[in-house]
Formats: sequence, C-alpha cells, structure tokens
Amino acid sequence: QRYRDPAAEEKMNPFAEQEAWEEHQIGKATLQFGSKNKKKKDEDYEFVFEDQIEFIKATVMEGVNVEQDSVQSPEASAAKTALEKLQNDRKTLPIYPYREQLLQAVNDHQVIVIVGETGSGKTTQIPQYLHEAGYSERGKIGCTQPRRVAAMSVAARVSQELGVKLGHEVGYSIRFEDCTSEKTVLKYMTDGMLLREFLGEPDLASYSVIMVDEAHERTLSTDVLFGLVKDITRFRPDLKLLISSATLDAEKFSDYFDSAPIFKIPGRRFPVDIHYTKAPEADYLDAAIVTALQIHVTQPPGDGDILVFFTGQEEIETAEETLKHRTRGLGTKIAELIICPIYANLPTELQAKIFEPTPEGARKVVLATNIAETSLTIDGIKYVIDPGFSKMKSYNPRTGMESLLVTPISKASANQRAGRSGRTGPGQCFRLYTAYNFYHDLEDNTVPEIQRTNLANVVLMLKSLGINDLLNFDFMDPPPSEALLKALELLYALSALNKHGELTKIGRRMSEFPLDPMLSKMIVASEKYTCSDEIISIAAMLSVGNSIFYRPKDKQVHADNARLNFHMGNVGDHIALLKVFSSWKETNFSTQWCYENYIQVRSMKRARDIRDQLEGLLERVEIELSSNMNDFDAIKKAITSGFFPHSAKIQKNGSYRTVKHPQTVHIHPSSGLAQVLPRWVVYHELVLTTKEYMRQVTELKPEWLVEIAPHFYQMKDVEDAGAKKMPRGEGRALKD
Ligand code: CDP
Ligand code: MG
Repeated sequence: QRYRDPAAEEKMNPFAEQEAWEEHQIGKATLQFGSKNKKKKDEDYEFVFEDQIEFIKATVMEGVNVEQDSVQSPEASAAKTALEKLQNDRKTLPIYPYREQLLQAVNDHQVIVIVGETGSGKTTQIPQYLHEAGYSERGKIGCTQPRRVAAMSVAARVSQELGVKLGHEVGYSIRFEDCTSEKTVLKYMTDGMLLREFLGEPDLASYSVIMVDEAHERTLSTDVLFGLVKDITRFRPDLKLLISSATLDAEKFSDYFDSAPIFKIPGRRFPVDIHYTKAPEADYLDAAIVTALQIHVTQPPGDGDILVFFTGQEEIETAEETLKHRTRGLGTKIAELIICPIYANLPTELQAKIFEPTPEGARKVVLATNIAETSLTIDGIKYVIDPGFSKMKSYNPRTGMESLLVTPISKASANQRAGRSGRTGPGQCFRLYTAYNFYHDLEDNTVPEIQRTNLANVVLMLKSLGINDLLNFDFMDPPPSEALLKALELLYALSALNKHGELTKIGRRMSEFPLDPMLSKMIVASEKYTCSDEIISIAAMLSVGNSIFYRPKDKQVHADNARLNFHMGNVGDHIALLKVFSSWKETNFSTQWCYENYIQVRSMKRARDIRDQLEGLLERVEIELSSNMNDFDAIKKAITSGFFPHSAKIQKNGSYRTVKHPQTVHIHPSSGLAQVLPRWVVYHELVLTTKEYMRQVTELKPEWLVEIAPHFYQMKDVEDAGAKKMPRGEGRALKD
C-alpha cells in the first residue's frame, strides 16, 4: 500500500536516479525457429532495399481525383503532396527494410510469430504489404486489435496512406459499429468482433490472412481466438496466420502454434533514462501533474512532448482540468501547453488531435490510458510519466463478482511505457514510485485476462460454436476450472444451457446478441412479457455506460432537477433510462431537448444506433417487437429474468446484502433510488469506489425471484417477503 508523505513530495526531484537503457542497433531481420524446434535454423534472407515504391493507383482522396486535377486544382496538388509525404514516411519505418523478407516468410510458412517494438509499423504496414503482394485478391486481410480506439485510428491511418475513403477498401469493425463495405479488403477489428464472426463463418472462409495483433496483451478474446484460429489452420492450409507482439516472449506463442517461426523486426530504440521517486507517492494524480509542469517549465520548448499514463477517463478529465487551471495564470510566461486526452470513450473527432504535429514553440502533453502503452504510437514523445497503475479487472469465482480495480502494473508494462519515450530520440521516463517498488513489488508480467475474469460470455460463445468440452479446449493458459464451472452454472441458471451443459433454444437466441449474457437473457425474456420494445431501449441505454446525464459544475441543481423528472414515481433507474430514451424519441431526437435536460446528445445517438442494431437482432431470433410501456411490472420482470443473480435485500442500517453469496453493498448516490431505499432491489452492476456500490438499481418484488428463477432461489431466500415496507420519500430532491 502506498501512503501520503508530503515531505517526500516536496523533495521529489524527477531527475534523481538514473538508469540508462541499452541502445539497440538496427540489425538484420532473423527468422528464428521456436524453442521446441531445437535445430534453430537461422534463415537469413537477403536484405533488399526497395529503390522504387509503387505509388498507389487509387488516389481518390475525399472526392478529389488527384490524377486528373493535379495541375489545375490546389486542393488536389495538396492532397497529392500529402499522399507522397505519407508514402515517404512509410519508407522510414523500421519494418520497411524487411518488407521482402517478411513477404517471403509469409509465403513459406502458414503461421508466423512477428515481434517488433511498438511503432515499428507492424499494424499499419504488414496488412498493406500483404495487400500489395496480392493476398487480398484471395480474401480479406483481417487484423485484430484488443482496443476499439486502436482499431478505428489505425484503420483511419491506413486509409489515408492508401488514399482511399475509410470504410471502402480499408475499414474497421467494432461492437455496434461496422465501418466496412463490399469493397473492404483490409479490415481492422477488435478481437471480440472476429470472435463473433466465427458464429456466422466458422472457417473464416472470406479471409486469406488473419493477423492477431497485440498478442502480448493477452485479452480474453485474443486468448480464445488463439484456440480457434489454431484449429482452422489445420483444415484451411491456404489461410495465413500472423501473430504479432510487441514483447520478446514470442517463444511462448511459437510453442503454442506448433513451433511457428519467429520473425524479429530489429528495433530502433534510443536510450531512455529512468527516474524514480525517492519515496512512494500517495497522490499519483497530483504528482503526475506536478512532474509534467516541471518538465514543461524547465525544459526548452520544442524538444519533445510529454506522455502521462492514467488509469481511466475520470482521472484524465481531472488532470486536464487541473493542468488548464494551473497554466492559465502563467499566460505568456511559459510556452503553450497543448493538452491531448486519449481514452476509449473519447469521441472520434477528438481522437485525431493527438496525432497532429505539435506547433513550433509549443509542447503537447498527452494524457492517456493504457491504450498508449502499445496499441497507439504517438510521434514526438520525449518524456513519459508513469504513475505505475492501471485499471484491471479482477474476478472472484466464488461469488461471481467482477470488479475493476486500480492495480499496480507489471514490470513488463512499466518497461513498455518507458520505451514510448525513446522512439525518435533519447528519452526520459519518470516513474512515480521508488526503484525498490519496481524491483521488489511489481510482478514480472500481467496475468492474462482469461485467468481473472468472468467467463460466461466466452463459454456461451464456445458452446454456440459447438465446442462442448471446455475443460479440454486448447487454451494457451487455461482459465481456473472454478471460473469455468461458475460460468456454466450461471448459464444454466439463465436457462442458456440444460443440465447436460448443452445449449438450449434460449441460449442460442442469447448468443446472437453481442452483449453480456445477463443482458441478452433480459432481451430474450422480454418476449414473454411483451415488452421487447422497451427492453431493447433499456439494454441500449445500459450499453452506453454512465455518460447519459451531464452535470456541469455551475448548474448542478438544474441538472439534478432535470434528472429527477425521469425518476418521478421512484420507477427505478432502468425505467428512468427508458423514459429518457422515449422522451427524446418523442421530440424526434432533438438536440435542443438534450441540452435542456442536461443529457449528452452524443451518448443518446450512440444508444439509438445500438438500439437499431438490437432491433435487427430481435428480428433475426424471431422475437416480435412489442410494447408494454405502461406495465412497469412486466418490464421489471423482464429485467429480473436476466439479472436475478444480482438481487439484494435491505438491512437495518440502510445498506444492502446480496441474496446469493451475501456481501454488503450500497445504492450508488447517482441512483434515483438512493434516497428511497426499497426493501428488495435488482442491480445492473457493482462498482467499487469508496464502498461497494450497486449502479442502475430497480425495485423488485421478492416473490418474482422464486417465480422467475425457481432453480436459483427457494422460498427461504425471500422469506420476509411480506414484511412491512420502509417509509419512502416520493419525488424527493436528489442530494449529493
Ligand atoms: O504496430 P506498431 O506499433 O509496430 O506500429 P504502427 O501502429 O503500425 O505505427 C507505425 C507508425 O505509423 C507510427 O510511428 C506512427 O507514426 C504512424 N501512425 C500514425 O501516425 N497514426 C496512427 N493512427 C497510427 C500510426
Ligand atoms: Mg501495433
């Protein structure tokens, strides 16, 4: 545990301890064979530098035809210059000299493991090389990314490099957003989306190449993909499989893929000085801001930008505000500091900002989540500030509870972060923890997600692919069997599996929805309560996350009153969300209405898109769209049908106790029921901040639990069903 030590903060000198990193020379690409294959045949390909790059034929950029108009139109010649510059930039990437060797290796082997430092050009270049070499004529080239922001931004970049419109030849696919077309041959997608594609196309017949990128991240979906793609390479000898990773533990991948050869792209890394704090930092957020400002003020402007790692959006927003506040008073005394946040939910139009070159005399400070650790490369970073934390999922298989916790990162992560500063010149990394911390407290590597997460989703997916024997599935690192059993139990409780562990009709329908099984179950159950119309609106609103209501600092009272309107009658948070959606719909999706009601229009539009897709999926599973807007009990019963494992009962002191696997929880202060405190509730999720909070809460009648889930709850679980209700304040104002 870290503690606050103000004296140490005062003394903190980021330029204290130093540790230089070895400089890596550009060397020869080697094709090394996996450790199982002891022969280690080093096939040194001839090094061929391509004198001539083929200029891309398709040069239609945003409607400007470069070929024809280049002489006359200034826009066209600007576009052409931009394209030429991009083509030249491509040639300066570390991977470029190895283009031919790489293509040769892909030609010679079905599976290759590719290792190269972040920023060497793996993600943006390899799919293009394969496209240029003709692989896209035999099928799509798919490239998976663990993060959706990375999938979008990389696709955007590659479409620019090819001079085509995003969504045409180059596209991306992330959950609830498909930006591809018939023309698409280079498809970037999240690993989760490729998993879903297996449901419709179990042999991935429309692909000629699959590149599982950022494999070192070992997300749950990537790990499951490993097993599935390994399997199809056996009966699809024409499919090329590339596993690419930014770290050097490639032998593990190679061993797993039957000793696939490892292609190493020699790195180009400059020395990075590592600085530690003398004493642990209690408030890393503040320490990070202070360090960033110190660097900005003491180092000459124009010598490099700053990258700071935070754990999430809230931290980034706080840091952004603090930085703005602290630099405001300084006016022209310091150089301009351009603040660029980047996190998963950042609106697309703002994401491009981090890649824009820093103007002369100014400095950029990028405030990023883990996404900048390996998925995204930002040029011009010289200083990295690493507080040493990230948000990590953890899962307790006994209780089935999942939580997102701020956790110390691993040594491997810390080294990746430091490496971000030494890409274009010598760098500096400020670790906001002690050297002792680093060497003695940090784990070597991050535990793969599959070993610390709820597996219900994946188990349902594998079951619908007909994979029944999960205990013997070829996982690179198997999940704890306890967690597998827990997932099977939950799916059985949700009636997605029968007692033999086989997929039921309900389960098959559930698997069509790209949602958590409890949400899918809620939708499938809405058929019975004839309220599918309302339920998909609720599911869409829940999927958007907690960014519906907007609470500006100077108008909190107004915002709270506006929000309270939707909670009138203590309907609970789910129905309040439904009311928000349907009221917006009644205004014909008015932006003005959103402003007036302190609702984020962007989130609403996203909810509308998601809802449209869910409506399409309803049709696919043959559930009629039926509305029952006035029967709140029916809607609540449908919600309970999916979320009955998340029920809680009030205790004397006003806290709650979860019914199965008893644990003390509280209603989140943002809930419409926070002051009402119903006896029995069902909640959407638990979040751990200062306490364990239930977020999105609805009142339920305990007898519903036995009615809806008789195999999960017995009468004794809901015994005091008839007890007197707590007094409640109708429509009372929300307090902080
Ligand atoms: O995948 P890897 O980390 O090896 O590199 P990459 O993502 O292909 O990035 C190669 C280069 O493309 C980076 O150095 C960036 O300069 C550039 N890039 C960019 O400008 N904008 C993006 N959205 C992605 C990459
Ligand atoms: Mg990459």
